[in-house]
Amino acid sequence: MKEKKVPDPFSVQGNELGEQEIIHRPVLLDTLEELLDFGEGAAIVDATVGQGGHAAVLAGRLDKSGCLVGLDVDQDNIGVATGRLSKMKCRVELVRENFGKLDEVLGELGLEKVDVILADLGVNSAQLARSERGFSFQEDGPLDMRMDDRLERTAGELVNGLGEKELADLIYKYGEERRSRRIARSIVWQRSKERIDSTFKLVRAIESAVGPRRKGPSGRIHPATRTFQALRIAVNDEMGSLEKLLDMAPGLLREGGQLAVISFHSLEDRQVKLNFRENAKKGIYELQSRKPLQAGEQEREQNPRSRSAKLRIAKRI
Ligand SMILES: C[S@@+](CC[C@H](N)C(=O)[O-])C[C@H]1O[C@@H](n2cnc3c(N)ncnc32)[C@H](O)[C@@H]1O
Repeated sequence: MKEKKVPDPFSVQGNELGEQEIIHRPVLLDTLEELLDFGEGAAIVDATVGQGGHAAVLAGRLDKSGCLVGLDVDQDNIGVATGRLSKMKCRVELVRENFGKLDEVLGELGLEKVDVILADLGVNSAQLARSERGFSFQEDGPLDMRMDDRLERTAGELVNGLGEKELADLIYKYGEERRSRRIARSIVWQRSKERIDSTFKLVRAIESAVGPRRKGPSGRIHPATRTFQALRIAVNDEMGSLEKLLDMAPGLLREGGQLAVISFHSLEDRQVKLNFRENAKKGIYELQSRKPLQAGEQEREQNPRSRSAKLRIAKRI
């Protein structure tokens, strides 16, 4: 018998206006489903609800006594998640707020303790795909990179406003880029001739310092990858928000509750690992695995983004 082709729910889809929507494919979904242990009446927080991919599956396990709280700083993503989660049986609360303020959000909703907190860090496919957001070095767009457009400082302001040493330090610290000094020097030289106000102008400044992408294994990553990562982290204060979330989580989780964090680069994963270890030593957490959990071969093939994903889960004792 011929196998029926099941449509891929996470591909580009048309919305009611006929426009194309990029649907973000959630990573490590099966692993989370298997390891997150909660009942139908649980209170679940998706601290990075995005387009609601993880949230829809987790909230689907709740009945009307359960509650899903979703946070995101990006209004476009909150809009998509609102549609996607509108038919859940449980109570759904979607809030446009930074997860660094999760304690305040839960307080306002009258929730003292929760059963699960999930954070799937970074940006999603839709944010990356929209050139006007300026996250991608593959597309030309304004140098913005704000996940939350209420923030005042864009990547363009950092690139054109910081001194050479400050720029080099930022690129080194958040991008772990060994060639940070050379890149900062080139940026300062290029901007003395013309303001660097687009992603492609920045790519050109980086390439003129370190050369274009090489062929073969040494050119596995684009020369602009680390500088773009550094600027995005700085613009959105990603490490600061993560630190706040990690610090407040033990106080927000019920006994037996779980904190699950998916990170996509070593700076984030290191921060999560150290926090979990420290809290395990103090008898606050029990770690669900010593090593981070990663995507299997099949998921890596289907979703290249999953290749760098690392999931750590801690249980509140
Ligand atoms: C990788 S996506 C999450 C995708 C989501 N799990 C899904 O299945 O659709 C990360 C999301 O977190 C949001 N985000 C990043 N940092 C945040 C923060 N500090 N507070 C709230 N949202 C944040 C981004 O705007 C983005 O929508």
